[in-house]
Amino acid sequence: MRTSVAIIGAGPSGLLLGQLLYRHGIDAVIIEHRSAEHVLSRIRAGVLESGTVALLHEAGVGERLARKGLVHHGIKIGDQNALHRIDLTHYSQGRHVTVYGQTEVTRDLMEARTAWGGVSFYDASDVAIHEPDSTSPYVTFVHEGGEVRIDCDYVAGCDGAHGVSRRSIPAERLSVFEHTYPFGWLGVLSETPPIDDELIYARHEQGFALCSMRSMTLSRYYIQAPRDENPEDWSDDRFWSALSARLPESAVRALTTDPSLEKSLAPLRSSVTEPMQYGRLFLVGDAAHIVPPTGAKGLSLAAGDVSVLARVLAGLYHQGRQELLQAYTPTCLERVWKSVRFSWWMTHLLHSFPEEDGFTRRIKAAELKYTLESVAGRTALAENYVGSPLADVTG
Ligand code: FAD
Ligand code: PHB
Repeated sequence: MRTSVAIIGAGPSGLLLGQLLYRHGIDAVIIEHRSAEHVLSRIRAGVLESGTVALLHEAGVGERLARKGLVHHGIKIGDQNALHRIDLTHYSQGRHVTVYGQTEVTRDLMEARTAWGGVSFYDASDVAIHEPDSTSPYVTFVHEGGEVRIDCDYVAGCDGAHGVSRRSIPAERLSVFEHTYPFGWLGVLSETPPIDDELIYARHEQGFALCSMRSMTLSRYYIQAPRDENPEDWSDDRFWSALSARLPESAVRALTTDPSLEKSLAPLRSSVTEPMQYGRLFLVGDAAHIVPPTGAKGLSLAAGDVSVLARVLAGLYHQGRQELLQAYTPTCLERVWKSVRFSWWMTHLLHSFPEEDGFTRRIKAAELKYTLESVAGRTALAENYVGSPLADVTG
């Protein structure tokens, strides 16, 4: 079998790239090692930057998003017992974010791909990338008991943090910059109305808490927990009381505590791989970089890479612009490091670190107060949270 671009992974990066390439008339095949149902069952991101929403419209999958996505013009920050509102739109020259679950983004993209008959292999095992530094790379895998080989011009490694793509690049050709945090987020999904009509990020001496939502009847809550915590040790009651203790009393009054639908733990870390390409293999989204979810940046960073790569490939195929091959890594990394910094900053500001001394605690309390009280502080938070427009690599 032959295609122009072999895409490894059917998460948001792989599916969105496949959709944009289709719109550019470039042939691609998606190879995913889990089932479509499994991919759709992973509950992850909930907040999209407006550049990501625009890209989904450009990809032709914005119809349900426009109907069901919740436009948010502000977020709330809990600081011990006080609740402050940051008017995102006011402090970011009219921008906003959209609350729309990653599961929904994935479903829209999968349905669009099925509708036009795009080729995808789910449940593929032993996926391997061969000769990515040559002009004729190929991918092999086992599907329904048979060995499949796909010859291609380029490989897009959209296979997340634990995929095969990054491992296919010789270690001495990569630099990995990493930072781990000594905690994770314990997340709960519950069929309850959200506690507030905006997201609440809460700093508390017992640990961080976040109140988010998927719709006006589905809530998503997180609390900071030890990295190795077992979600099964957390009964619903234990979760609700830990959450309530960390939120300002004025917010807790509106909390509905019905049984949870799902409970999971995500350890927090930051990681960036440089460069994001090796020969004809490109690393895209979580395969290249991970951010802690505090800044709500992971999915939009992935969309940023996809946007750049789709334009690079369109320039190569339609205009023969070989020089664009060199532009992928530097264009993506500029945006990536800005989001890595913001996510790291917001994580430090709002979480309690084990063994944090009194000096550090007071410095952080003062920094949060400055951020909330000054125009400069609010502007910096709002501008970074809503994100910047996607880069145009084609100049
Ligand atoms: P993934 O979603 O990881 O997809 C990779 C795909 O590749 C998967 O389907 C996987 O099965 C497949 N794969 C893996 N290995 C192989 C292989 N060897 N062969 C073939 N296929 C393979 N981001 C935000 O922007 N906003 C948020 O609010 C937000 N909240 C988050 C909350 C949590 C708790 C978590 C964990 C993440 C959050 N994120 C958020 C981050 C966001 O979910 C990720 O950045 C996003 O999923 C990245 O998409 P991706 O397609 O690059 O990678
Ligand atoms: C979510 O709804 O899952 C969510 C929202 C905001 C974040 C992280 C996760 O910062």
